[in-house]
Amino acid sequence: MCGIVGLIARDDVVNKILEGLERLEYRGYDSAGIATIHEGKLDRRRSEGKLRALKEVCFHAPLQGTIGIGHTRWATHGPAIEANAHPHANHRIALVHNGIIENFSILKKDLETRYTFESQTDTEVIVYLIEDELAKDQNPLKALQAAVKKLKGTYAIAVLFKESPDTLYAVRQGSPLVLGISEKASYLGSDAISLAPWVKQLCYLEDGDLAELTLGHVTLYNREDQKVQRPFVANPMATENISKGPYRHYMLKEIFEQSTVLSQGLQHILEKEAHHLHAPQGDIDFKAIESLSIIACGTSYYAAMVAKYWFEKYAHIPVDVDIASEFRYRHPVFTKNHACFFISQSGETLDTLAALELSKKHALTLGIVNVPQSSIARAAHHVVFTHAGPEIGVASTKAFTCQLLTLLTLALEAARQRKYLSAREEESMIQSLRSLPGLVHQVLINNKMEAVAQTILKAPHVIFLGRGTQYPIALEGALKLKEISYIPSQAYASGELKHGPIALIDEHVAIFILAPFDAWFEKSAGNIQEIHARKGHMTVFTDEEGAEHLQTMLPGVFHLGKNLILLPKVDPLLHPFLYVLPLQLLSYYTGMLKGTDVDQPRNLAKSVTVE
Ligand code: G6P
Repeated sequence: MCGIVGLIARDDVVNKILEGLERLEYRGYDSAGIATIHEGKLDRRRSEGKLRALKEVCFHAPLQGTIGIGHTRWATHGPAIEANAHPHANHRIALVHNGIIENFSILKKDLETRYTFESQTDTEVIVYLIEDELAKDQNPLKALQAAVKKLKGTYAIAVLFKESPDTLYAVRQGSPLVLGISEKASYLGSDAISLAPWVKQLCYLEDGDLAELTLGHVTLYNREDQKVQRPFVANPMATENISKGPYRHYMLKEIFEQSTVLSQGLQHILEKEAHHLHAPQGDIDFKAIESLSIIACGTSYYAAMVAKYWFEKYAHIPVDVDIASEFRYRHPVFTKNHACFFISQSGETLDTLAALELSKKHALTLGIVNVPQSSIARAAHHVVFTHAGPEIGVASTKAFTCQLLTLLTLALEAARQRKYLSAREEESMIQSLRSLPGLVHQVLINNKMEAVAQTILKAPHVIFLGRGTQYPIALEGALKLKEISYIPSQAYASGELKHGPIALIDEHVAIFILAPFDAWFEKSAGNIQEIHARKGHMTVFTDEEGAEHLQTMLPGVFHLGKNLILLPKVDPLLHPFLYVLPLQLLSYYTGMLKGTDVDQPRNLAKSVTVE
């Protein structure tokens, strides 16, 4: 949430800062800004809207400087107007901030007696807190150290001082910040992607750290203002190719990448000709675990819900799944030999990180993350990477299926260790998993979802239904559709239809039912009858056997490729992987047809680093 870039170089930094912000736009895109010091003068440009609007402003009113900071905003306090865009500044300080200052109203009440505020943001108080300290004859470093001690909340801040035109300052508390040094420049960014093409080695600031960056050099201080050293580690994104390739949007590219990333993911767990899965975290003793909590937000939470079915069915471990923002505040009870898994694509989601910090004293913790070196990866006792590669589209797609693969292998490892999985069963599951990338490819290239998307454009409301592992997939389908198309969408466990949602059904509502021909099919067929009796407009996703049954049950109602979507008949283990694909495509095409910005949907951000 909000992206920060800072640079000190020998040459002009403005274009480089804009380039870095472009890689951070997934963190927020409702306004952007940049500030530099040039010939002893602090100057800034800001603009409402996406980064392209700021570029336009900088084109018409160029900005120069060899030191600068930039910001792309996801609004928390105050609407997305230019006055609230960062950097916030006075005549000698400019700063950008990611996070939330929780005590800002108390601080503001006092500061307002001496300063005139120009914005509604929480951030602007930091400018005047520093100004107060500078007025006490403090130098910039001391002023910043004293000012941040008055802040409560989370923040990553980058600050320019007119009096120190060669030094860039940054502080981290709760929100991520990384830095990199080359001979030509010193860099600051919110994540590894922002600095990817520039530096191969990164230094991750720890909470409470303050960085004093000059050209080619950094000095770090901890929260006690003592000098500290932090390691430089390889930038995990340095070799990644982050582009749309031949695709119009990152989202479509990432949907179609799923067969490749799942195949690469399988290589991590299946050795050639191996008869065993290699769990990505083989050193966890699952025999010792008596209960498991899986905690996450958003799409990652739905991956957790799928995993509950797997851990309970295959490994016989009782599982609770929880939304991180609920878990962290509801006084969870940790039992003896409890384990907590935390799933996060970004590894930075604040609620998930806070839930992890809370659990660490009471339970064994495992972070299941996509971004190496992320805060959750570094904070958990154990970590597993989901190997989806960088995901840029704000709505999660390939990260989800890679999370599923990781969770499934963990569940099967647990089942094996706890002696609930016979060698024969394991071998048959391995066979199924080996076929997964090919099946994913087949479903994607044969999809008919653009035509299906046409049919829901006018729907006032969309309902998704599923049973078993298809229930969380229905939830994910509804989330994806509302994120990308803004059509109100909800999902229910099909068995819940009668307990309220059926009241919504009329000839206008669109209903999507996930009904593979499995142990639950007959029950789903019952739901389909009930919906038909109420003139509901349904589309059913099933396999050949399911389709045959439905066409016999309700002759003339279902038409292949129209309201009956065929998926391959597969081992039920693979259902969640395959049935989510058409739902991802449905939301993509609906968004396209409605003309939304599918990669950067309104009001959303990919990395939610505030509460
Ligand atoms: C945001 C994103 C979602 C994501 C959720 C959790 O809401 O828009 O796509 O699922 O955060 O993110 P995480 O990085 O923790 O998986």
